[in-house]
Amino acid sequence: MRNAVITGWGKCVPPAVLSNADLETVTETSDEWIVTRTGIRERRISHVETSDMAAVAGLRALATAGLEPDDIDLILVATCTPDRLIPSTAAIVQDKIGAGRAAAMDLNAACSGFIFGLVTARQMIGAGGFERVLLIGAEKLHYFLDFTDRSTSVLFGDGAGAVVLEGSDEDAGVRSFELGTDGSVADILCVPRSGTEGAPGPDRRMVVHMEGAEVFRRAVAAMGDASTRVIEEAGLELDDIDLLIPHQANIRIIEATARRLRLHPSKVFVNIASYGNTSAATIPIALTEAIDEGRITPGSNIVFAAFGGGLTWAAAVYRWGSRIEPLGSSDADLPPSDASGLELMQPNIDLYGMGVQ
Ligand code: UT7
Repeated sequence: MRNAVITGWGKCVPPAVLSNADLETVTETSDEWIVTRTGIRERRISHVETSDMAAVAGLRALATAGLEPDDIDLILVATCTPDRLIPSTAAIVQDKIGAGRAAAMDLNAACSGFIFGLVTARQMIGAGGFERVLLIGAEKLHYFLDFTDRSTSVLFGDGAGAVVLEGSDEDAGVRSFELGTDGSVADILCVPRSGTEGAPGPDRRMVVHMEGAEVFRRAVAAMGDASTRVIEEAGLELDDIDLLIPHQANIRIIEATARRLRLHPSKVFVNIASYGNTSAATIPIALTEAIDEGRITPGSNIVFAAFGGGLTWAAAVYRWGSRIEPLGSSDADLPPSDASGLELMQPNIDLYGMGVQ
């Protein structure tokens, strides 16, 4: 099968910061609890829609690949927080970036969405018919948070990351992968009534519900075990792995996964302190920052691992190609905004603080 290699990468995080100190003013929590229990210091809150962040990340990824929007055959947006149910966020992005030749569709595997998308793009390129795919992970999770519920509101943030995958004869790309789902325990991480279930009405509460400790336990086991299996399937030893880029949900999950893998902390990429959990966007944002920080070099063996709603889990071994330098840069950006994180989340406080059920 033809290889599919990442030739472009980019991220877009909105400017408004919501700090742990800000959260202390709206729910019973503390900076000390959040930092020690999760590793999160701040997160971004978006003043625009998911598709706006996705479009900017996508344009930046296209620029590093040296491509124009018209070069793209397929846009995949991994998201569980679409602008609308119809059309797909990918269709909105297609229009926003002017990629008129591309087919476009969304993919929802929650926090595992980027790796599910990576495998989907790789299979579609490998099977033929698609040559260049723009894969974006983008989320506006704050929309689905009750900021008075400390068990969920401190964890999540907004942002987007993107990669361009191209067909290639280079000895690079996805070496092995595992995608998994256990729908029987879906209710431990979900947004009830966010679709067609239940009676329609003006006061429908649509917020993230999570049984944190149970999700935590399953995340460590699934991410660690799936990573071990994909490394083995790729015919690699632990020493061959240059970098683990895990989904950023909780620093303790990341550290426990690394311990389970017996991987030295220096080989694990962590940026959760700055953004919290941005679901499908964590891995492409982290990948972009890892490249910017020189943590990836030509031929690097990278392990991606994730876990999320569904429940879903995913892991993949990816061998980097020969080019790490961007071919170009983009001046695409979000519209400016002076609103603070606290101001942007005020509508949620107004709604859910009133006890909307
Ligand atoms: O992307 C995938 C989806 N999400 C995840 O992977 C998240 C997985 N779960 C977690 O990261 C952790 O379970 C949490 C961070 C959500 C919670 O950490 P924990 O160590 O499992 O805490 P806990 O739920 O067992 O709660 C311990 C205590 C409780 O108080 P009591 O009952 O012992 O008095 C909670 O009420 O901490 C309390 N607590 C808080 N205190 C201050 C829970 N949230 C907070 C908070 N601030 N924000």
